[in-house]
Amino acid sequence: MIRFPLRLFSLGTRPPLRLLPLLPLLLALPSCLSGPKTVATNPAVEAEKRDVGSHRDEIDDNSERMLKEGRETFRYDTFGSEEFWGKTRLHAAILGEKQGGVGPGLTAADALKVGLKVDVGKLPAILVEVIKKGSVSLEKPETTLELLKADAVVGVKAIVDENTKAMTAVGITCALCHSTVDDSFAKGIGRRLDGWPNRDLDVGAIVSMAPDLSQFTALLGADDATVRKVLKSWGPGKYDAELDQDGKGFRPDGKSAATVLPAAFGLAGVNLHTYTGWGSVTYWNAYVAVTQMHGKGTFFDPRIQTSPDQFPVGVKARLWDVRSSPDLVTSKLAALHYYQLSIPAPKPKKGSFDEAAAGRGRLVFEGKAKCARCHVPPLFTEPGWSMHTAEEIGIDDFQASRSPDKKFYRTTPLSGLFVRAKGGFYHDGRFADYRAVIDHYDRQFKLGLSEQEKIELAEYLKSI
Ligand code: HEC
Ligand code: HEC
Repeated sequence: MIRFPLRLFSLGTRPPLRLLPLLPLLLALPSCLSGPKTVATNPAVEAEKRDVGSHRDEIDDNSERMLKEGRETFRYDTFGSEEFWGKTRLHAAILGEKQGGVGPGLTAADALKVGLKVDVGKLPAILVEVIKKGSVSLEKPETTLELLKADAVVGVKAIVDENTKAMTAVGITCALCHSTVDDSFAKGIGRRLDGWPNRDLDVGAIVSMAPDLSQFTALLGADDATVRKVLKSWGPGKYDAELDQDGKGFRPDGKSAATVLPAAFGLAGVNLHTYTGWGSVTYWNAYVAVTQMHGKGTFFDPRIQTSPDQFPVGVKARLWDVRSSPDLVTSKLAALHYYQLSIPAPKPKKGSFDEAAAGRGRLVFEGKAKCARCHVPPLFTEPGWSMHTAEEIGIDDFQASRSPDKKFYRTTPLSGLFVRAKGGFYHDGRFADYRAVIDHYDRQFKLGLSEQEKIELAEYLKSI
């Protein structure tokens, strides 16, 4: 009978003080144990029995592993997308004629100009030195190749032939659009910032460097010139993740149909994802890896198939039921999801906003302006089903009508909003700055905000 407490308190020494409050309970235990056995031990639990003192932390171990694996996937995994991109011969345009490719080649300076970023952590020390000294010119495609071979270009992975050492294709990773760098070494070169939308990145300009866009023309049923026109209409910080489902390159008003690249941080606790709520984070991760990056994996969504009028391209190309062999995506989704949810929203620097005014602005946000009705702090979106019609928020329904639900915008979680100031707010960046969004809400909801309140509200938005 007394074996049990003895084991707990090691060799009969006095029970540690912090266990004293539990003592009555512990003393009562032996009698319980010998009492009527009404519930048999579940055999599944039986196998898991350990000594009371043993430290089993499989959950902690798993958490650590998932985080690490997910980060690797997010930063470096191309999901086999090099097969698709290899056919576009984008790598040949990057190399240039002198290095066995085509055209003038992409100099490192031009790569930085289209918004590609360089991870200084991946640069070999020798390359850092020569760049510092200026003895390596950023004005040459050779330097771009060096950077790619060092795996230092964020989101772009060079596939290099082991024997000839020639670059035979490039693949892309999630980090291409959802990471940037802190410019600590030079403009466009620095430490990685995972989850930050790269609002400098001109995806359309990069894709349209590719000599062969026949995979796009075949998919979209459009000629080469039209495909290039659509790609070039996007501009920096934008991408259109629905084009290859509905084939809509432009809005009815003639403007680009692309959306701004969203934050991939601060998403834990948020129910639906994308500006129009296509699904959960992991839904979207599979969607993008398979249908946008053109990796090899599995993606299934019958909502696309059942709306052939809405998604003519996706239905025709069966982009709602993709089963690649081998599947290089599915085994990575769990850890990728885990990592995605672990990326915190960054905090704005002290001094980047007026603290006293932000404090008063918070009262406006939660009070008179009723922003917190939808942007519920601290998630800054509604716990639950955070979707609103275009009419409710006072904008057109073009983008909303491109999602399977056809009519909603999701309340954007606002944490780390300052990161998204470049490129504008709302799904297409239509509001150029804080003041423009606030003026929009003031009109839409007839808030009657004073000049002072608008200024304070803007300071608050900068602070979250
Ligand atoms: C070519 C650029 C690009 C790449 C590469 C890309 N994304 Fe995205 N991502 C976007 C755009 C644009 C959206 C917004 C789509 C929309 O709302 O219609 C988006 C949306 C998201 C969202 C939803 C954000 C929110 O506000 O809820 C998540 C999460 C995400 N991407 C994760 C990923 C992951 C993980 C990968 C790699 C598997 C990836 N993305 C690759 C451009 C990209
Ligand atoms: C009825 C719900 C609702 C209310 C009330 C509301 N919002 Fe929004 N908010 C939304 C939705 C939905 C979006 C996404 C719109 C889009 O992307 O087109 C959004 C987007 C935003 C964005 C853009 C975020 C980004 O990354 O682009 C900002 C900023 C914002 N809201 C601030 C506010 C402020 C300030 C108020 C109060 C004056 C407010 N909202 C009131 C629903 C609401």
